[in-house]
Amino acid sequence: MPLLETRQVTKSFGGLTANYQVDFHVDEGEIVGLIGPNGAGKTTFFNVITGFYRPDSGKIYFEGDDITGKPPEQLCRKGIARTFQVVKTFKGMTVLENVMVGAFVRTLSTGEARRRAEEVLKFGGLYEKRDMLASGLTIADKKRLELLRALATEPKLLLLDEAMAGLTPVEVKTAIELVRKIQARGISIVLVEHVMEVVMPLSDRVMVLASGQKIAEGEPHQVAHDPVVIKAYLGERYAQRQAA
Ligand SMILES: Nc1ncnc2c1ncn2[C@@H]1O[C@H](COP(=O)(O)OP(=O)(O)OP(=O)(O)O)[C@@H](O)[C@H]1O
Ligand SMILES: [Mg+2]
Repeated sequence: MPLLETRQVTKSFGGLTANYQVDFHVDEGEIVGLIGPNGAGKTTFFNVITGFYRPDSGKIYFEGDDITGKPPEQLCRKGIARTFQVVKTFKGMTVLENVMVGAFVRTLSTGEARRRAEEVLKFGGLYEKRDMLASGLTIADKKRLELLRALATEPKLLLLDEAMAGLTPVEVKTAIELVRKIQARGISIVLVEHVMEVVMPLSDRVMVLASGQKIAEGEPHQVAHDPVVIKAYLGERYAQRQAA
């Protein structure tokens, strides 16, 4: 049984079909890359999976349970966490307090939430900055903070929406290491990224969306050389670089 499964998920906005009959799954422990052109429907798909949008049709299963249409907070308690393409930290709160917000999903005790948040901050390399205001962080640290807040909810599945966009090469390298450390904890990850040099080596499997539809799915090297994917998204450059 897959950890997450979507069957024929469709979501439209007026006349625009952002997701059309998408079949998708994530197995336990997997990192799945989700790629595709701007406007392909990647963020919408995350919003549907996490309950921010209800699909017009289709079904979503988590650990075998039908979770279609369940609200985000309930799905978070079930073990689905996500980050946002546009970072959403609580600016007036410290780094520690931001992560405590995540920890409160699992406990009502402030002391326990603090203890868990500190542990997550140590794991994610932000412990030294725990007393800083979130508003004072660099974009890389804000993205990391958001990821760690999601991690503090103790998810089984973590959805990362362009968690590495806008980062320097060195920051990307550190972020990749963190994603691998999270996977090593047994957490499954779906990764939306536009930088192929990041998403391809990290992913066990890749799904490609274009105009709301799945146009390819498979191992990274297969997908990178699929003519349909090259035409719709990658262009010749990435495939050639890989072959070289
Ligand atoms: N709330 C909304 N209301 C209306 N249209 C929307 C809404 N959210 C997304 N869309 C439209 O749905 C389509 C898919 O958008 P989505 O944000 O899911 O794409 P994406 O693959 O995440 O793109 P990007 O790579 O640029 O982040 C786009 O045409 C977008 O304009
Ligand atoms: Mg998006």
